[in-house]
Amino acid sequence: VKKIGLLTSGGDAPGMNAAIRAVVRTCVYHNIECIGIYRGYQGMIEGDFETMDARSVNNIINRGGTILKSARSSEFRTKEGRQKAYQHLKNAGVDAFVVIGGDGSFTGAMIFNEEFDFPVMGIPGTIDNDIYGTTFTLGYDTALNTVVEAIDKIRDTASSHNRLFFVEVMGRDAGDIALNAGIGAGAEEILIPEEDLGLERLLESLESSRKRGKTSSIVVVAEGDKTAGKSVFELKEYVNENLPDYDVRVSVLGHMQRGGSPSCYDRVLASRMGVKAVETLLDGKSTYMVGVACDKMILTPLEDAVKGKSEIDQELLRVSDIVTI
Ligand code: F6P
Repeated sequence: VKKIGLLTSGGDAPGMNAAIRAVVRTCVYHNIECIGIYRGYQGMIEGDFETMDARSVNNIINRGGTILKSARSSEFRTKEGRQKAYQHLKNAGVDAFVVIGGDGSFTGAMIFNEEFDFPVMGIPGTIDNDIYGTTFTLGYDTALNTVVEAIDKIRDTASSHNRLFFVEVMGRDAGDIALNAGIGAGAEEILIPEEDLGLERLLESLESSRKRGKTSSIVVVAEGDKTAGKSVFELKEYVNENLPDYDVRVSVLGHMQRGGSPSCYDRVLASRMGVKAVETLLDGKSTYMVGVACDKMILTPLEDAVKGKSEIDQELLRVSDIVTI
């Protein structure tokens, strides 16, 4: 491998820039070239490339978002789109690529590898922490801190007005952000897609927390949660109807969870993953995702990363039941 392409793809996540910096500098360290590919796979299809060197990644370790921009490309799902992308990579002399993204981006990389026998490596970058083969994805730790800070603020106003707040957080189909940020912010109840406690239990829990002297409550709801098939706004209506003396509000945190300067943990993780991704390619290996487990860097075949299911931590679920009393 002499020239590595690098792209960020799918939803952006804090720490992507730190990973870009690490990939570029590892290439420089090993005397190989690095080509930045803009706007994910769409930029690959259009040949939107730029040569990167150690100085092109100055002062980005602390910046949220991604300097390479990101996109979800529908054209890359077609054979014609991938063929165009391959031609551009070949013309530019790129002989391997590293993609920083989530499972959709990895699926694209896998198909590309199968079709063109092209070496690829994945770095898991998503705030959702929903990827098999790594305990933490890039951006997750930062998003947790952002969510906890936001809920702390909501708690101030909830407590001043004796209100119940439903706070919806991101995570797609995973409850990791909700569960961890919920525990961290001291939420009274946490609703996640991995377990449906049902509406009765929600009402019981709200009433019993009031009986125990709590005057305000925070219920963290994962966006993928479907307690009794209800959205967060329908949950509010349901509580309004069944507990009429509760003053209920909804706060959807939205895309602010994806922004901001990455935490130190995410910066270090990004640096480790970037080095590991490039060095794995240089070892002649391909089609792996780098990950972290027990604080060690590990490799998981991309296929397993895509097909495997990242499980919710049962011990954390129990902790949350105990500490929310
Ligand atoms: O995967 C990251 C994520 O922020 C999810 O938590 C969320 O469901 C989705 O992306 C939002 O996507 P978009 O930015 O396209 O609205």
